[in-house]
Amino acid sequence: MSANQFSQLAGKFISFEGLDFCGKSTQVRLLAQRLEKLNVTFQVVREPGGTKISEAIRQILLEPVNGEMHPRAEILLFEAARAQLVHEKLLPWLQGGGFLIADRFFDSTTAYQGYGRNLDIAFVRQLNQFATSHLVPARTFLLDIPAEESERRRRQAGQAGDRMESGDLELYRRIREGFLALAAQEPERFVILNGLLPIDQLHHQIWAEVSRLWGLPAR
Ligand code: TMP
Repeated sequence: MSANQFSQLAGKFISFEGLDFCGKSTQVRLLAQRLEKLNVTFQVVREPGGTKISEAIRQILLEPVNGEMHPRAEILLFEAARAQLVHEKLLPWLQGGGFLIADRFFDSTTAYQGYGRNLDIAFVRQLNQFATSHLVPARTFLLDIPAEESERRRRQAGQAGDRMESGDLELYRRIREGFLALAAQEPERFVILNGLLPIDQLHHQIWAEVSRLWGLPAR
């Protein structure tokens, strides 16, 4: 498939990004409810996961007993899960004309593994492109919160944290800076949202953009 055909497919594809507990899964759910009311044909996928193979890889990645996982093994597992998801599910879905919402996509790898775990950013980008066959979302909503807020919400939720969520504050600061750097590099793709705003206000901002992008009623 040519790059041009891909960019046409990608018009129906959006992603949500941000630190753990930034509120993106809540926003994806609210968006999905709204699309259901309008009888729009769409699909939501969560990374890592979304296919049998990718969910099995997710288990390995998030299992706290796998604490010794090397960052190079970690990134390859994320990319393996993604490659399976893209080729088994996402590309056929987009070719069929459906809308698609991803709860995390390759920007998470650049931010967490590249900026967070200090892997070479240019190489991480190459891996992302290899895994996705260059599929890029039309819009990426970044729910931006400080690292301290992510940590506060995690404690409030009373969760022990999976392997990925048990990092230190410095790590999360680097990841946040990574996301913001990515957004600054691609201002036409990224929409930065203040994740500290109330849930309904954020939904309102997201709907304004999605309805415009996909030609849906604004209210
Ligand atoms: P989730 O909490 O949004 O389901 O994401 C699972 C964890 O995996 C979260 O801590 C972010 C992390 N992650 C990466 O480190 N790299 C990636 O490429 C993806 C998709 C997620």
